[in-house]
Amino acid sequence: MRTVYVNGNYLPETEATVSIFDRGFLMADGVYEVTSVLGGKLIDFEGHAVRLARSLKELDMRAPVDKDDLLAIHRELVRLNDIDEGLIYLQITRGSDGDRDFVFPPEDTEPTIVMFTQNKPGLADNPAAKKGAKIISIEDIRWGRRDIKTVQLLYPSMGKMMAKKAGADDAWMIEDGFVTEGTSNNAYIVKGNRIITRALSNDILHGITRAAVLRLAREAQMEVEERNFTIEEARAADEAFTTSASAFVMPVVEIDGIALGDGTPGHVARRLREIYLEESLKKAV
Ligand code: PDD
Repeated sequence: MRTVYVNGNYLPETEATVSIFDRGFLMADGVYEVTSVLGGKLIDFEGHAVRLARSLKELDMRAPVDKDDLLAIHRELVRLNDIDEGLIYLQITRGSDGDRDFVFPPEDTEPTIVMFTQNKPGLADNPAAKKGAKIISIEDIRWGRRDIKTVQLLYPSMGKMMAKKAGADDAWMIEDGFVTEGTSNNAYIVKGNRIITRALSNDILHGITRAAVLRLAREAQMEVEERNFTIEEARAADEAFTTSASAFVMPVVEIDGIALGDGTPGHVARRLREIYLEESLKKAV
C-alpha cells in the first residue's frame, strides 16, 4: 500500500481524506504538477516548482509549503514508497470553507495539498516509445487559460477516450485550424531537420519538458521554429512527437490514420528522447 501525503501528514492511502466541501472537488479550483522519477531522483524539479508557484499566483491561491519543503516532501515520498522509476502527483486546491459557494472562501482558509506516487518500472525504457503513438485530431474546446495547470481535465480526458475509440493512443487539439497541444503533452512536427512547435501563450501549457527539449535541440544544432502549424501540415510532416513529464519525448507515427514517413518513430524524435533522458538524469535531484 502506498504512503501518501495530505496536509502535512504521511498516511497509508486508505487513511488519507479530503473534505467533500473541498473546492478542488466541487469547482475544480485547484492546480497540479506531475514530476517524474528516474533512478530514484526527481527530473526537472526546479521547473515544476517554478510553474506551480506561477499557477498559484495566477489564481490568487496561497502556497501551503515553500520550495524547500516541497522538495523534501517529494524526496520523502520517493523514499517511503521505494520509487525507482515513476511519477509524483501533486495537487493544491483552495481548500474548504465548509460549504459550497461560487465566491472564494476567506483568504485565511487553508489550502489543501495532496501528493502521491505512481510506481512505473520501465518508464525510461518504455516499449510504447519504440512503437510510437497514433493520434487523432479533435477540436480544442477548453478554457482560455491553458497556461495555468488546473485540474479541469474533463475535456482532455474525453479526448483520450475519443482517441481510444478510434483505435489511436492520444489526441491533438485544434483551434482556428492550428494545433494547440496534445491532451496531456506538447505537440511538435519535424520537417527535414527543423523542429516546429507552437509558441508559448495562454493557449497552451508551458511544458517543463518542452523547455528542456528545445534547449537541448538548439544545443545539438537542430533548428527550432516556434510557430503555429495546421493539422494538414502535421499530416504531411516527416515526423512528429510529443513531450511531457510522464512520457518524456514520445514519437508520433500516425495522425488521423495517415502514417508519417515510413510509420515508425523518426530519427529526430528518437535522438531527442535519448538526449533528454541522458541530460535530465545528470541534473536529477
Ligand atoms: N501533463 N500540455 C498539457 C495539456 C499537459 O497536461 C501537459 C502535462 C503538458 C506537458 O507539460 P510537462 O512537460 O511540464 O509535463 C503539456 C501531465 C504530465 C499530466 O497531466 O499528467
